[in-house]
Amino acid sequence: MSPMTPTDRSTSRAVARPLVWGRHYLMVDPSHFRVEYAINPFMDTEDQPDPQAVREQWWALVAALRTAGAEVEVLEGRPDSPDMVYAMNLGLVLGGPGGRRVVMSHMRYPERRLEQRSSMPWFAEHGCLPSYVGRDGVGPHLEAGDAFAYGDALVVGYGPRTEELALKHLAIELDVRVRGLRITHPGMYHLDLAFCPLDDAHAMVCPAAFDDESAAAALALVPEPLVLTEDEAMTFCANSVVVGRTVLMPACPPRVRGVLEGWGFDVVLVEVGELHKGGGSVRCLTNPLDVQVGRDLPGVPGGEVVLP
Ligand code: ARG
Repeated sequence: MSPMTPTDRSTSRAVARPLVWGRHYLMVDPSHFRVEYAINPFMDTEDQPDPQAVREQWWALVAALRTAGAEVEVLEGRPDSPDMVYAMNLGLVLGGPGGRRVVMSHMRYPERRLEQRSSMPWFAEHGCLPSYVGRDGVGPHLEAGDAFAYGDALVVGYGPRTEELALKHLAIELDVRVRGLRITHPGMYHLDLAFCPLDDAHAMVCPAAFDDESAAAALALVPEPLVLTEDEAMTFCANSVVVGRTVLMPACPPRVRGVLEGWGFDVVLVEVGELHKGGGSVRCLTNPLDVQVGRDLPGVPGGEVVLP
């Protein structure tokens, strides 16, 4: 093969630009993490995490993120909020022409609603204007973890946690296009368990998470999707974080690794098994603070909701 012959790998790399976001995260220290109730199929109150192992795994994740080039901020957890370690769900932060905003999650389950008492002041101190929707239980349920900037829209999963009506609120409040995907799989109750943006041409997508129309819509959003089987997705491999060309993953089935490396990504495995006991992994533990309207997400005055 001559040096000029394009391979799959060089073709994909030539057209794909790395995500510009994903270099700055909020995480919540895991001291109060426990399994006190079961609000997803992974949680079992008989199977408690070991606090020492939790701490070690969580700090190893912080270190891996920093080594990959990301900045990490740490917020203290709350004794009354054992799931708060899943920082992704606190709120959706978006920068843009009007400054930094955060759409606070309005959690589906009351067990998680006290988290806001600590996260809202943190967001405000860090220059994020909190939305009216989501605060103190205003409006439909909406959980960050169900929303990603990708392509021309904020892609939002709804069903198990986020309610369809929340999509309208998001579009109007943020002046963006919102593309809804209906989640039907009980084990992939947040979009971040079934969809992982990799760069502007690639993303991991698990069609088994969605109804048929939404599965087709999810695949159509991504120029070159890495299609995950249900079994692959249930390893939490889509619940990964991407920093430039590095993918920090809790697990990586061999076929998935082959595709990612073929596209030029470096796979870094991070052991967070103790934190899986609450039903979340690497992505759930990290909330990106550097997504921007106008750069990563085109502005659409008045917003727009697109459903399959
Ligand atoms: N126990 C938490 C819940 O059920 C886990 C949250 C996982 N977070 C995520 N971004 N998927 O709410």
